[in-house]
Amino acid sequence: MRIPEVRGGLRSAVICGAGAWLPPRIVTNDELAARMDTSDEWIRTRTGIRARHIVSPGMPTSHLAAEAGARAMESAGVTEIDALVLATTTPDRPCPATAPLVAHKLGLTGRPAFDISAVCTGFLYALSVAAGLIASGAAAHVLVIGAEAFSTIIDPRDRTSGVLFGDGAGAVVLRAGEPQEPGAIGWVELGSDGSLADLITVRAGGSEQRTAVVPQQPADAYFSMIGKEVFTHAVKHMTQASLTALNHAGWRSGEVDLIIAHQANLRILHAVSERMDIPRNRLVVHLDQVGNTAAASIPLALAHAQSTGELFTGARIILTAFGGGATWGATALTWPAIKVE
Ligand code: UT7
Repeated sequence: MRIPEVRGGLRSAVICGAGAWLPPRIVTNDELAARMDTSDEWIRTRTGIRARHIVSPGMPTSHLAAEAGARAMESAGVTEIDALVLATTTPDRPCPATAPLVAHKLGLTGRPAFDISAVCTGFLYALSVAAGLIASGAAAHVLVIGAEAFSTIIDPRDRTSGVLFGDGAGAVVLRAGEPQEPGAIGWVELGSDGSLADLITVRAGGSEQRTAVVPQQPADAYFSMIGKEVFTHAVKHMTQASLTALNHAGWRSGEVDLIIAHQANLRILHAVSERMDIPRNRLVVHLDQVGNTAAASIPLALAHAQSTGELFTGARIILTAFGGGATWGATALTWPAIKVE
């Protein structure tokens, strides 16, 4: 590893590159309505989603992650990475972690690489851990990826979850830098509440199932969510975490240019912006095109916002998410001058 000398204590992690990748196959609401009891109208009015990208055969999460990771490294103009952190709910296999395989695909064999499991908050957890690796001097460049093949854990008969989720990957490269630079990662507010574990879950496939007194059901192999309760907790925790992050940054709500929140439901985004007293036109909305992509959601939304021109150099942005665990998080930062691939 090439670690620059640490002078004057801890260093800051600064975003110096970003990239994203979506599998080419697009599934519209109408296509879903043709195979399950739902409608374009229901999906659009309840969620804001119009379409989602879905993986094709032979395209596991590591494939998506490597595509996004390669683009982020190109954007940063780096070929050397000291560590890779992958946030995913849908690893290629339950064992081992997917990150070492992604590192291998990217020509980074030998570097530390590990997975973070925090469902839709995974990217913010990964960002925080990666920033810590840089602050401690353990790494000078860290690749942070959020990647999901979420469609692979959805029960094809479950119309509630089946219409919500999509697949994709996004990534950023962090480098060692100064806290006042644009792109510097400041305070990352994170939290969890394990008493809510049943709200968003895949029950089977782990030690709980293998030690179960009562055998589990076939449906337990798939993702399940108690949507209404999740909605309420998501609004509350994303709002609180965002306000805490704003406080750490020393910004008032009115000074925020963009909220880049986990893209689960348009009604959740509206509720968070209202509670934060930030106008709706400062919300980045990407879920209409990709649905809920869990850990990939925030980096995909960053890439989308940069491509539309909404995200500009110097923009003051809030990143926030809520997900299974339950987990939540938020951070405030100023967007750097980078080209997103
Ligand atoms: O990524 C982690 C964070 N996830 C989230 O934040 C998701 C949060 N939750 C949500 O976004 C919403 O709760 C959902 C979109 C999941 C559901 O919306 P809702 O307004 O809470 O609907 P509901 O579950 O109360 O269902 C209302 C009705 C039900 O019918 P009845 O009981 O009123 O007759 C459902 O059976 O809509 C029915 N329904 C559907 N109808 C057509 C549920 N799913 C569908 C569907 N198409 N796909």
